[in-house]
Amino acid sequence: MNEIIWAYDYGGRSRRKWPAKHDTILVYAKDPDRYFFDQDAIERIPYMAPGLVSKAKAERGKLPTDVWWHTIVPTNGKEKTGYASQKPEGILRRILSASSQEKDWVLDFFAGSGTAAAVARKMGRRFVMIDRNDEAVVVMANRLGTASVRYVDGRFRRVTVQMDESEQLGLLR
Ligand SMILES: C[S@@+](CC[C@H](N)C(=O)[O-])C[C@H]1O[C@@H](n2cnc3c(N)ncnc32)[C@H](O)[C@@H]1O
Repeated sequence: MNEIIWAYDYGGRSRRKWPAKHDTILVYAKDPDRYFFDQDAIERIPYMAPGLVSKAKAERGKLPTDVWWHTIVPTNGKEKTGYASQKPEGILRRILSASSQEKDWVLDFFAGSGTAAAVARKMGRRFVMIDRNDEAVVVMANRLGTASVRYVDGRFRRVTVQMDESEQLGLLR
């Protein structure tokens, strides 16, 4: 349906070519004639040139296009989990706002630190997160807790998540 360019500006820069500072987000729908997209739920953003539109329009802001400027997870921000490839909650919030409703299920096969789950929960969605890396599951457990989340292995056997001596949650096999 869409090829979204997520542009950010952080980290090292090549001096020999244009520095690569974007990710591509591909949007698919199972049925391109019948899919959910709620434009009204998307948080509006400021106009780049607010002086060129009416005051009312400038105050209301505009809908984002398929080019998104959004910072990465700040190194010392409260979102930061320490997981290397963690994505910012703001990006997931925009995706879930447009493409899901309360109580819907959010599935992430490459969940990493569980950003999709963290945002889904804040937005009243349910979630299933999958990752092949144990470290990711530990990070998710510390982020999401154990009260309302069930952790299972690749055979759907319950995995115990307990506090370790540093008061972090860890997996017991
Ligand atoms: C870019 S990271 C995801 C980051 C995540 N969106 C976040 O905000 O933390 C990709 C994740 O996919 C996982 N992964 C890669 N190949 C996989 C596979 N075949 N099955 C399950 N997980 C996989 C990696 O372990 C890694 O945690």
